[in-house]
Amino acid sequence: VAIHLEDYAPAAYQIDTVDLDIQLSPRSTDVFARLAVRRHEDTDPGAPLELDGDELELVGLTLDGMPLLEDAYSATPSKLVLNAPPAEPFTLEIRTRIDPDSNTELMGLYRSSGTYCTQCEAEGFRRITYFLDRPDILSVYTTRIEARKGDAPILLGNGNPVSAGDVPGTDRHFAVWHDPHPKPSYLFAMVAGDLAHVADTFVTTSGRKVDLKIYVEHGREDRCAWAMDSLKRSMKWDEDVFGCEYDLDVFNIVAVSDFNMGAMENKGLNIFNDKYVLADPETATDQDYANIEAVIAHEYFHNWTGNRITCRDWFQLCLKEGLTVFRDQEFSSDMRSRAVKRIADVRLLKSHQFPEDAGPLAHPVRPRKYTEINNFYTATVYEKGAEVVRMLKTLLGPDGFRKGMDLYLERHDGDATTIEAFLVCFSEATATDLGQFARWYDQAGTPQVDVKSRYDKRAGELTLDISQSIAPLPGQASSEPAVIPLRFGLVGRNGEDMSFERVTGARLQEDVLILEEQSQSVTFTGLKSRPVVSLLRGFSAPVRLEDHQDADDLLFQARQDSDDFNRWQAIQTLATHDLIRLAGEARTGKELKADARLVEAFGETLLNEELDPAFRALALQLPSEADLARDIGSNVDPDAIHQARAVLRAAIGSENAGAFRAALGAKPQGSFSPDADAAGKRALANQALAYYAASGASDVDDLVMAAFVDADNMTDRIAALTLLVHDNLKDAEQALEIFRKRHEATSLAMDKWFMVQATAPLADGLEKVKALTAHPLFDFANPNRVRSLVHAFATGNATQFARQDGLGFEFVAGNVLVIDQRNAQVASRLLTCFRSWRAYEEGRSKLAETALLKISSAEGLSRDTRDIVDRCLQ
Ligand code: ARG
Ligand code: ZN
Repeated sequence: VAIHLEDYAPAAYQIDTVDLDIQLSPRSTDVFARLAVRRHEDTDPGAPLELDGDELELVGLTLDGMPLLEDAYSATPSKLVLNAPPAEPFTLEIRTRIDPDSNTELMGLYRSSGTYCTQCEAEGFRRITYFLDRPDILSVYTTRIEARKGDAPILLGNGNPVSAGDVPGTDRHFAVWHDPHPKPSYLFAMVAGDLAHVADTFVTTSGRKVDLKIYVEHGREDRCAWAMDSLKRSMKWDEDVFGCEYDLDVFNIVAVSDFNMGAMENKGLNIFNDKYVLADPETATDQDYANIEAVIAHEYFHNWTGNRITCRDWFQLCLKEGLTVFRDQEFSSDMRSRAVKRIADVRLLKSHQFPEDAGPLAHPVRPRKYTEINNFYTATVYEKGAEVVRMLKTLLGPDGFRKGMDLYLERHDGDATTIEAFLVCFSEATATDLGQFARWYDQAGTPQVDVKSRYDKRAGELTLDISQSIAPLPGQASSEPAVIPLRFGLVGRNGEDMSFERVTGARLQEDVLILEEQSQSVTFTGLKSRPVVSLLRGFSAPVRLEDHQDADDLLFQARQDSDDFNRWQAIQTLATHDLIRLAGEARTGKELKADARLVEAFGETLLNEELDPAFRALALQLPSEADLARDIGSNVDPDAIHQARAVLRAAIGSENAGAFRAALGAKPQGSFSPDADAAGKRALANQALAYYAASGASDVDDLVMAAFVDADNMTDRIAALTLLVHDNLKDAEQALEIFRKRHEATSLAMDKWFMVQATAPLADGLEKVKALTAHPLFDFANPNRVRSLVHAFATGNATQFARQDGLGFEFVAGNVLVIDQRNAQVASRLLTCFRSWRAYEEGRSKLAETALLKISSAEGLSRDTRDIVDRCLQ
């Protein structure tokens, strides 16, 4: 059944305190919950109290210390109802029994490699005890955890440690934790296990000394340094930039190897997928280091935007997620190169969010209905949600934005609130009407902005005819114009931005045009020559821009635009145009020839020493097959796209072979450092290696194998291995063996080994992946492993997933069904790889539909997978 935003009503009862006593045992854990319950003032005395449960077994129940009569309540695994509770505040004691070992959903309390841990967001707390499991119920938690000392010497809870000791006469011990900050149940956490840790401290501006600890499996302590460093930098940054200080005496992070998502911001006890904690040069890539920095920051930043101020209901998820992603993006920009970070974020937005927004799974940043909330932890809520906050900052300016944030943090501290309340703070703080802006939260779909420019030389006037629209979507036939901040420049022949006299037809705020109409004409006067119009600088709004630039202007922009983002965008647009042309021609059997000027521009980019290596590496990267499929939009043939890319890559590689070969040596000197500068140099050298490998030179096989063997860090090693395997070079098999032997004991490194093979665009790629599912190291129980093989295949191997014989679809669909039996979230996430199925050419789209129908007709589907398959097929 669907849940609707407009049906929101406060709960009939409030729970002020929660006292938990959790008696851990692998197969049978007893949970005693003492709840101080109070009737909401608007609730009629005697109205039933309905608590949520999920697969729970009730073993005891008392009210104010007295057992309840049978007809006073009813209990099922998914509900506990008190038919007529007292009108005055009362204490409810609930005893449930759960089985952590058989909890394969990894929601609630489960065990990962012997460590007890929890995941409660969004609705996992109800798998531990019966509760009003909704984010607007804020309670003060005290948690007593008890376990066998030998199994779990470490016992962790939310908040501050209170006491600990042995249980006399047993082999057990306990710890009590108290969290003074009222919080929703989704932020509850506990961990118990035999863990090692690294420790550090941080002193806040107002002098609070905070003990920082990162807990990991024994033997992994050496791989925590980067995460700890990132945490301390995050704490400092949040004080400096947002005035947000930490508020407990301890901050604990635990890394576990079986985790459904990236990480979780539980109050004072963040639990992480270990891939976002563990790093050393031997096993982690530069991308891993960057991800760790970003995710550590993200979860830490949630302490204010998420925990102290939380969501009234799950429709408001973007209130905490969009805002916190924006904050972590800004943090990374300040730690690294802003332009490079922006390009990386926009690439992610376009590759993940744009397709979501254009297909059957499209939904507004704040959805209005859901059947399974887990399916709404999406690129739209997170990444587009962050873009909306970014636009707010662009519209209000840095000072206005900070004023609004200050008001929000002050006014709503301790609240469970809404997007409306958030926007009111910005509106009030800056005296700005944000009524139309709020549409960004309520409309699905990516606005298409079309701009045609005319220059009147005699009058010295430039006119832009601008229109915006959103293509019809399921459940959204029409849309209203959005407020679009369009950052721009009018670039003169010398590459400098030209000044103009006046602008009419749109509001101008510094270098930003504010678009508000469905269509508008904007005229600039006082221009003595025709400028090249550089629009959407810094990607100032999450729109698709069609500005009808010709190749000359794009080449000029790629070379001269003062905005780094648009230089990158211009070369990407040029490449996209040529690749789409080539893909079209590939289907007619024509001989393919890449555009010579484009090939030359790539060579120029490589050699342009004025540009930061990291920027050059990004600019040299061709649009991915998925990007191209998205831009083509319909009647998509993945083989043609693959061929087009191969032809362009080979042309760029062979025309500039000498330069690429020379660039191979430009690696950073000295001992390994994960900083942005060193990472950028490695990225450029590895990009050069990839192009050189495509050049057809006779020494390619040996050179790439030598790069693999000589690599002294994972970034370089995996880059070379990818080329060996994906280009089917001579020593590919041998290299895979060397890698396996070297890294067999390191799970996160072996994930990469699986992923390299999963994404290899070889004719028998599917057969290889199938065989790998039987590999002794493959494990359906480990989400990271499933993602690195099956998910990576489905999303990163377009030609094999969408094979003409339909076997790629069939393979993935079969895996969805298998995984759905044990872990609904991992299964439904995997299934989203079918979301663009209607965009394939007819043959493939029929085959994809067959695979979806097979899933749809299977019995006993989880609600998660049912929801995705239904929406895909609707
Ligand atoms: N709040 C977490 C984060 O973004 C994500 C938790 C998602 N959990 C889930 N079951 N969908 O940091
Ligand atoms: Zn988050």
